[in-house]
Formats: sequence, structure tokens, C-alpha cells
Amino acid sequence: MNILGIETSCDETAAAVVRDGHTVLSNIVYTQIAHHRPYGGVVPEIASRKHVEHLPEVITEAVTASGIGWDDLDAIAVTRGPGLASSLLVGLAGAKGLAIRLNIPLIGINHLEGHIYSIFLDHPDMPPASLCPFLALIVSGGHTCFIQVNGIGNYTLLGRTIDDAAGEAFDKGANLLGLGYPGGPAIDKAARSGNPEFVTFPRGFVRKLQARMPGLIPRNCVSFSGLKTALLYYIKDHPLGSGSAADVNNLAASYQEAIVDTLTQRASHVSESAKVFAVVGGVSLNKRLRETMAAMVGKRRLRLILAAPHYCTDNAAMIAGVAFHKWESRHPLDQALDMDADPNLGIGE
Ligand code: KG4
Ligand code: ZN
Repeated sequence: MNILGIETSCDETAAAVVRDGHTVLSNIVYTQIAHHRPYGGVVPEIASRKHVEHLPEVITEAVTASGIGWDDLDAIAVTRGPGLASSLLVGLAGAKGLAIRLNIPLIGINHLEGHIYSIFLDHPDMPPASLCPFLALIVSGGHTCFIQVNGIGNYTLLGRTIDDAAGEAFDKGANLLGLGYPGGPAIDKAARSGNPEFVTFPRGFVRKLQARMPGLIPRNCVSFSGLKTALLYYIKDHPLGSGSAADVNNLAASYQEAIVDTLTQRASHVSESAKVFAVVGGVSLNKRLRETMAAMVGKRRLRLILAAPHYCTDNAAMIAGVAFHKWESRHPLDQALDMDADPNLGIGE
């Protein structure tokens, strides 16, 4: 079954063709980073305009590069949430039009389940059922959550950030340090020449009263807004003068250490009874996070699985891949042509 995936939830315009859920025939991502960089973050209006401009060519490129014809496509999978409403709508409108034109089914997918699924791409030897149940940590620009994956389409939310996402903390911290956008890769790079013990920034452990979401255990949750404020006050008290590259590197390393240490300590707790632990999303590219997670599981009977680097950040292969399994298992699908975008679509709640 050949599925065309379309992903436009934020600032990447992406399309991919995936066969039988695992074999990625093409994976095209048009990144808009250069257009958002001058503003220090994603500007929704620019994101949706760029999706409108580039989606047709990105889809055409994905189908051409896949080596199959338009008529060989069996279904279209599209991200319908969570994300920026104006961005989601472009992908959804394009996917609907194409589904009508090709007369094939349309499958709406939750962006977060796409991220979880990224570990299965290129692994036909590893069907999801062979790993379930497993624990997944999604760490991206918009999300930070611990999810128990009972099966494809069957998730339990165990914990999450109560404020900023880890990627957001990286992006805001980099902004304060003058390292530019996107902040995660910039801090990752600067931190390699810095001292992580230069400043001890607060770890974002959530106390009982802070967890506002019913049913969630505070010890499974994290908070990153205080960390950003701590960096802001530190820089106010110790201004970054000229020639302070060493200080910037030290602060980047210390700031990164606080995010990574918080996530790793929480992961250690949440994964207590798990056998398999997947870390997915853009922040899972972070070198230090990969080291600390590997060290954490090394002490335990826990298998750590990370997605290939090009599947960590937003892409459409993960959307097409998960759609195959939902289709195959006859999971109740979002597939009506009047399906709407849902910017706040949750997972496992
Ligand atoms: O998954 P993703 O592409 O988009 C969302 O769904 O949000 O993640 C983007 C986020 C950005 O916040 C970016 O700064 C962060 O991932 N990121 C990193 C690294 N590479 C990307 N964060 C830390 N270290 C990295 N190497
Ligand atoms: Zn994402």
C-alpha cells in the first residue's frame, strides 16, 4: 500500500511516499527556517503563505522521487493537528483536493503519533506490535510529553510539561544568549565548548500543587518556564559584554544541562516499569540528551530507541507510516472529506 503523507503543522512543508508503513520511497522537506530567522521564531502568517507557495511542488517532487506514478497511490495521509491552525489548513486543503482528484481515501493523522511512529520508519523488521507496549518521550518545539504506547492509535498520556516545551526552552534560551534561531542546534553546538557546571540553573521538577491537569502525576511532569527566567536574570546580573564567547558557551552548556538533566531524571522515573523507551522529536537530536539517556538506560534493563536524525524533526514520512497501520488495523479513522484541522488535538488524554 503506497501512502502519500502531507505535513504542514508548523514551518516545514513536507510530503513523502511510504510503502506498507516502513519503506520510505521519498521524503521531501522544504524548510522555512530562513524566512522565520529574522523574527527569532515562527511567524504563523509567513508559515502559512510559504506552505501555499511550496506545497504543490513539494508534493510533486515527493511523487516523482518515489519512482511510482500518481495512479499507484492508494491513500493520502495528512496532519490534522496539533499545530498552527493556518498552517494545518493549507495541508488539509491540499490533501482533500488531491484525494478527490485521485479518488483515493484521505486519512487524518495526529502529528504527535507521527513523531512516535518515526522510530519504525525504514524498519520493516520491527512492526509496532513487536515493541508495544512501550514508553515514548516526545520532545519537540511545541511538545514535551511522556506517552505509553499501547498500540498504534492507543496511547496513554503519563506526563507532560506544564508550561514551555523543551524545544521552546532551547529556542528562548538561545535568543537570550544571542545565538539565533533555531536555538536547539545553536545551543547544542555552543555547549560543546562550554562548562555545564558554570552555573547551576534550576531543574524543572513539578511540585504537587503546580500540576493543574487532572489525572497526571506531578512526578511525571516537567516545567521549563522558570529556567528561562533564571537565565534572563543571570544575564541581567552578569551582562554579556563583548569578547564573552567563552561565557556564552559556558551559559549554553549550563542551560542545556538543566533541560537535559530534568528530562533524563524524569525519564528514569517514568520508565521504571518499561522495557522499551523511545525518544522522538526535534530535541531528540541533542547530543548531550542522547548521551545522558544512553547512560540512564545503560544502568537498567531498558532498551533505548532513537529515530534516524532525518526523521526526528518534522517530516511527512512519519505521517504516511502511521497511517498505514491505522488503515490496516481498521482503527477508527478520521477520513471524512469535511474533516477539520484541530490546532489543540491531544494524545492519550
Ligand atoms: O519536532 P520539531 O521539528 O518540530 C515540532 O514539532 O516542534 O522540533 C523542532 C525543535 C526546535 O525547538 C529546535 O530548536 C529543536 O527541535 N532542536 C534541538 C536540536 N535540533 C532541533 N534542540 C536541541 N538540540 C538540538 N540539536
Ligand atoms: Zn513536530
